[in-house]
Amino acid sequence: MRPLRTALLWASRNEWLAERVPRFRFARAAVRRFIPGEDLADALSAAGEFEDKHMSSVLTHLGENVNDAAATEAVVRHYMDALDKIGAHRLDTHISIKLTQLGLDIDPDLAERNVRRIVERAAAHNAVVWIDMESSDYVEGTLALFHSVLADHRNVGICLQAYLRRTPADLDALLPKTAAIRLVKGAYMEPASIALPHKRDVDAAFLRLSVKLLRAAREHTDAPSPGLASHDIKLLEQIVRTSGTAGVAKDLYEIQMLYGIRAREQEQMAREGHRVRVLISYGEAWFPWYVRRLAERPANLVFVVKSLAS
Ligand code: FDA
Repeated sequence: MRPLRTALLWASRNEWLAERVPRFRFARAAVRRFIPGEDLADALSAAGEFEDKHMSSVLTHLGENVNDAAATEAVVRHYMDALDKIGAHRLDTHISIKLTQLGLDIDPDLAERNVRRIVERAAAHNAVVWIDMESSDYVEGTLALFHSVLADHRNVGICLQAYLRRTPADLDALLPKTAAIRLVKGAYMEPASIALPHKRDVDAAFLRLSVKLLRAAREHTDAPSPGLASHDIKLLEQIVRTSGTAGVAKDLYEIQMLYGIRAREQEQMAREGHRVRVLISYGEAWFPWYVRRLAERPANLVFVVKSLAS
């Protein structure tokens, strides 16, 4: 793993930094490139702007590793309010949740009860609840919870990480259930025994898994569309070519990208008729999430330095 990426991924897990860095104005200014603001209202307003450009969205209220049951209740209430507002504004907006923000570290049953409440409220507004995939310690618990909730609800989706050696088997277990799947490359620091260490191998795995997802989507057109979540445009084009779905494929899948990354290309793809869904993160607890974005592209540090200078 490249040394700067390793250092940044280490920093993303450092509580001392997470508490102090967000106090600096330059840091808050730098993060604004990736989040529209810290409040739900900021996120909803960004979602409305995407709809004007024929793109849909998915909201995530930043936060992870919450260790207090009362705090998880506040997260549930926040998402319920967000869903009601999404319904009231008639937005094509999903939500994306992290299980460690909903109690997975405290008690998996608490996390599952919390997820079920959010999924039920989302169903009332025709919204899908996507479950993010966190670091490898949580994968087994996240998949178990997902399979359990999926048995009762169709409006729930799961993220799979192409860098994990286990993911081909996890995908095979999910495909017969025609679940909604978002495929990503993977954003955490993992040992080589668990995750592919070289980027070219991760890209190749993303290609193989995406092609499999698209072929399955072509067979089960009534199943929820898979999300190809990547900013790697050349790879996305290669996936469509390799899967043999070029031309007919545009409504079989969604391209999912993050707010503030490749914004021009997002608009261009939407204009070309692709379904583009933008993940809008917001909230105060942005530090670990933001530093993972820096690790994905250390050149982003230039913006941090520019904010510091100004
Ligand atoms: P790659 O890293 O190869 O980048 C391709 C190109 O995209 C770069 O050359 C650059 O131009 C641009 N780019 C990528 N990242 C950038 C950045 N941070 N800043 C600026 N430009 C950038 N991960 C995870 O482990 N669990 C999860 O639940 C999720 N959820 C998720 C949802 C959505 C909608 C997206 C788009 C991504 C995630 N991820 C994630 C993150 C994912 O695992 C991965 O780390 C990033 O998407 C970066 O990988 P790419 O596939 O974009 O390609």
